[in-house]
Amino acid sequence: MKARENFGSRAAVIMAMAGSAIGLGNIWRFPYILGEYGGAAFILLYIVASLLVAVPIFFAESIIGRRSRSNAYGALRKLAPGTRWHWAGILTIVSPLLILSYYSVVGGWSVQYLFKSLSFDFTSAPAEAVSGYFGTFISSTWQPILSHTAFMAMVAGIVLGGVKKGIEKFSNIAMPVLFVLIVAIIVYSLTLPGSAKGVAYLLKPDFSKLNADAGAAALGQAFFSLSLGVGTILTYASYVKKEENLIVSGLGTAVSDLLFAVMAGFAIMPAVFSAGIEPGTGPGLVFETLPFIFNRMAGSLPIVSAIISIAFFVAILAAALTSAISMLEVGVAFLTEEKGMKRVPATLLLAFFTWLIGILCSLSFGPMSGVRILGDTFFDFLDHLCSNWLMPLGGLVFTLFVGWKLPKADVRDELTNGGTCNRVLYRVFYYLIRFVAPVGIVVVFLTNLLL
Ligand code: PHE
Repeated sequence: MKARENFGSRAAVIMAMAGSAIGLGNIWRFPYILGEYGGAAFILLYIVASLLVAVPIFFAESIIGRRSRSNAYGALRKLAPGTRWHWAGILTIVSPLLILSYYSVVGGWSVQYLFKSLSFDFTSAPAEAVSGYFGTFISSTWQPILSHTAFMAMVAGIVLGGVKKGIEKFSNIAMPVLFVLIVAIIVYSLTLPGSAKGVAYLLKPDFSKLNADAGAAALGQAFFSLSLGVGTILTYASYVKKEENLIVSGLGTAVSDLLFAVMAGFAIMPAVFSAGIEPGTGPGLVFETLPFIFNRMAGSLPIVSAIISIAFFVAILAAALTSAISMLEVGVAFLTEEKGMKRVPATLLLAFFTWLIGILCSLSFGPMSGVRILGDTFFDFLDHLCSNWLMPLGGLVFTLFVGWKLPKADVRDELTNGGTCNRVLYRVFYYLIRFVAPVGIVVVFLTNLLL
């Protein structure tokens, strides 16, 4: 078999993992979920869920990945031969592809918005035309499917390039650009009239809005945002060298992910309030708000606004791509290593299958909006199924595996690099992995089932 590739350096590991973690989950999903669950109080809940459950699971996945140096399915079989643990690996093949199918639709929206920015549509059109555009666009049949197709083609193209040349290179450029642009948007957003209400919304917790649902939503968002429970982090960790400090690169990823989410909140919410948009309007929130910002900005600074708008959608697209490629890579690693397929056919096959499901997601905003599963449109159903159930379920398996099945000495070896670092942190995280994270997930599951 061909030798497995590795990420080149620590910076490359963090960039690629952060590239997977930071994506539409931070910029598109976090602000609207936040809006649905009442702002600041939800942020607190989200931070608790991240620290106590999501980050420990991040480490559990990293340990399994690096120890086995294998894809998600093969990893469990390799580390627990003769048991049924690897059956859970199937979850990790299915879930990321399901996520990718609707993720690609939203990725497609950003492709479309990039084109609109390039043709100066947001900056030159009257304000009403700009804010109404989103509804017309997503409810049409062909245009969003076309954009979804374009996005999927880019994802497949990068994954075909392999880990080092494709994923690593791409993440290295995209993430810093995105960071700078979000800062610029925050600064502008804060100067809009009425923006103070948005800031208050982000800073003053209103605990009355928190219900049992919010717990699942916070956990779901933490899983989604850190790419957990679907084998992505596991697969990326399998490309991490032995000498690398897993706790340092994991915390680096988690902190930057949280930072990007909170920054996106500060970029979007002040503008939401300034535009008089309802914060709880759902998946369209960011796409309705950003053009509003760019349109407003254009009044005084047309060229600057057009440039920022173009650059911003390029960066969102890049962030979405670095996440999407990590979803596809999980399945590709499985097919190439377990089924002996070549990289090219494996990538194309999975991309095609995912693209087809994505078409249904896209249509669920338009012609198929009447089709409901448990009260949700197809798009929302898949998102809830994946984030609130499949991802935490996968996470539960990984944390139980590392906490209770893998020999303690192996866990210690991975987290402390053979006893050379992190000896105190290792204890804390081992405890969280063994007890707190699994109990947290089960409690949220039960509350959701029973309430
Ligand atoms: N974490 C990514 C984001 O925030 C989404 C993702 C989920 C990526 C699952 C990989 C696996 O956009």
